Amino acid sequence: MTRAEAGHHATDGPPRVLPGNDSAAIREAAALIRSGELVAFPTETVYGLGADALDPTAVARIFAAKERPSFDPLIVHLADPAELVAYTHPADAADPRVARLAARFWPGPLTLVLRKRDNVPGIVTAGLSTVGLRVPDHPVALALIRAAGVPIAAPSANRFGRVSPTRASHVVRGLGSRVRLVLDGGPCRVGVESTVVLLADGRAALLRPGGLAAEAIEAEIGPLEVPVPGAPGRAALAPGSSGAHYAPGARLEIVDPFGPGAARHLRAQPGERLGLLATSAAGAEAARAAGGPFAALQLLAADGDPVTVAAHLFEALHDLDAAGVTRIVAQPVPAVGIGRAVMDRLRRAALDA
Ligand code: TXA
Ligand code: MG
Repeated sequence: MTRAEAGHHATDGPPRVLPGNDSAAIREAAALIRSGELVAFPTETVYGLGADALDPTAVARIFAAKERPSFDPLIVHLADPAELVAYTHPADAADPRVARLAARFWPGPLTLVLRKRDNVPGIVTAGLSTVGLRVPDHPVALALIRAAGVPIAAPSANRFGRVSPTRASHVVRGLGSRVRLVLDGGPCRVGVESTVVLLADGRAALLRPGGLAAEAIEAEIGPLEVPVPGAPGRAALAPGSSGAHYAPGARLEIVDPFGPGAARHLRAQPGERLGLLATSAAGAEAARAAGGPFAALQLLAADGDPVTVAAHLFEALHDLDAAGVTRIVAQPVPAVGIGRAVMDRLRRAALDA
């Protein structure tokens, strides 16, 4: 390796951040992907850490950079729904439910888990016979996939178990020199990851609530089964979807400021730096009246609109981390629509690692 090459090595300093709407930046990022390197890029949900999905060595770099356990499969990102047939079992590709969901919701925050073809490397799917596929609804992501000319495997661009990034600065702070290039697309519009649905072997199962409401999917293809956490076979069906995750540095508790006995949890203990994550202005008011003092306060949506709450959730957790709070009290939202994804992420953030 020459000095010049070494200067680009992943262990040498922070990543370069380039504007995602610049065609030269896209070309450079695509060349990195084709040469087996990692690039972080924006999607409508969260930032992804991408590599050539058909190159097992490149995909191995994702697992190393994230310190992600090898049993947790990656989502493969496509630029066009028509590419699905190239990577999935013909019977699943021909499933009318697949065509229906792809036509209705792609590009968008929906990942379909289907039986894979042999051309998808086993490291991508953590050895499973299925592969998760989605077409992201973001011009930078689509431009990158098209320019690279290969499908891009990408998990969220955070270290394993930590809060997902919704801004380029979150990626830089979380991964540092583990990634060489970050394409900056500004804040992510949806703010929580894609909804993951398994449609293989005649099943229809919600593996992860996400940015697309499960109700919208059910309106197209009928009821989704929800594998019960802890049930036999559940871990094998939905690896990476249970247990502690999205952990901010501080301990997080879900506390309804309008609920009975809330005050006890909302009061800062001596020596504690308490952070408030409010999902409505009324909730923030109630929490301040009943508890505090709060060293930091994040209001996700004045009117409590769950779409706005989701859009700002991870950013608020990153900001509370940066404020150095030692405990976070988070106001719940009703677990319907995208609120189901918000509650899933809050519950998992509240679990001890
Ligand atoms: O919105 C998103 O989905 C983001 C952006 C970057 O596209 N990606 C993302 O990836 O959230 P990640 O790796 O953080 O989460 C992917 C999850 C896995 O943990 C697993 O639960 C599920 O998707 N998954 C992927 N492939 C699967 C498969 N073959 N079977 C079951 N679950 C799968
Ligand atoms: Mg993730």
